[in-house]
Amino acid sequence: FTVTWSAEAAEKGGYPHFMIKEIMEQPQALRDTLRGRIQGGRVEFSDVDLDCCLDGVEKVFIVACGTAYHAGVVGKHVIERLACLPVEVDIASEFRYRDVLWGDKSLLIVISQSGETADTLAALREAKKKGIRVLAVTNVVGSSVAREADRVIYTWAGPEIAVASTKAYSTQLLVMYLLGLYLAQKRGTLPEEVIASTVRELRGIADKVEAILEKAGAVEAIAEKYAATASTFFIGRGLDYAVALEGALKLKEISYVHAEAYAAGELKHGTLALIEKGVPVIAIVTQDELQDKMISNIKEVKARGAEVIGIAKEGLAGIEEETDELFVIPGEDSLLTPMLTVVPLQLFAYYMAVKRGCDVDKPRNLAKSVTVE
Ligand code: G6P
Repeated sequence: FTVTWSAEAAEKGGYPHFMIKEIMEQPQALRDTLRGRIQGGRVEFSDVDLDCCLDGVEKVFIVACGTAYHAGVVGKHVIERLACLPVEVDIASEFRYRDVLWGDKSLLIVISQSGETADTLAALREAKKKGIRVLAVTNVVGSSVAREADRVIYTWAGPEIAVASTKAYSTQLLVMYLLGLYLAQKRGTLPEEVIASTVRELRGIADKVEAILEKAGAVEAIAEKYAATASTFFIGRGLDYAVALEGALKLKEISYVHAEAYAAGELKHGTLALIEKGVPVIAIVTQDELQDKMISNIKEVKARGAEVIGIAKEGLAGIEEETDELFVIPGEDSLLTPMLTVVPLQLFAYYMAVKRGCDVDKPRNLAKSVTVE
């Protein structure tokens, strides 16, 4: 009698790695995070009374590490645009050692999947000491961050085992949108119809993520083509740049390929010197008002021999001719596209790592939760 399965294999639910399982779980994680938080055409946090944190707030600080920080970068764009509130976003290990000009009507939002990251926790404690209100966004009920913040919004992503964060990131993004809309409702910064239509789009996001996941094979084929590459660049503008940061992090942490995210408009100020024949450049193009600028950036890198992999919104004219490979995401309000564009980037990193024979779930030198400084 032989046992042909292990407890770990059973936990992976038929997938070869936790990371791909968790990527595939994103539609469910998004639905779970949305549940109970939308009523009619409005956002309602029925599970948590946020008003004591949000009333009278004039400035927002977002502090986090790693992937959670990248969710914060998206959060800054979203809250500024929807709620017209100034937002500063910082890496926790930098934030805690600088002289922050808090002001007395500030809110600190800490984002942490584990709720245990030492630097994030230290920033939270510093704020509390100064009498600043703290709102935590975390995935772990009862974690240190959850216990010490004034209020908590949970991301219901479920346990995330792979070191590289995927479903936690997408649910953190979703919470940033919900929070942005909730603040907009409170502050009266958007017409009801705009709130209702954004809420409608948010409701449909999980289905669109599902549709993208069905095309994982197309991303795998792209990864196959570039698996031997030594260095890559991820470019975008605005929210696409925020996602480029996350795409580059995913690739370097699990496949050990050098990956650098660049705001496309900054290329000329240095990075363009590194673009030579055959260097893959992943270009994200979903921001309606910035797409012409992005197309010219793509032309710039192509002219220097780059291989361009485009991630673009469907219906974008002229993108096909400019790219060597193209992955199209379903049409969406430009504000919400980060929730979609990150998916092919996660898949790209995953397949690159697999093809390069890396230990996908446990990359070298990295830990899931960094509880030391
Ligand atoms: C580690 C993990 C990352 C994570 C970061 C922040 O570096 O490997 O995946 O994004 O910590 O973790 P947190 O639990 O605070 O979100």
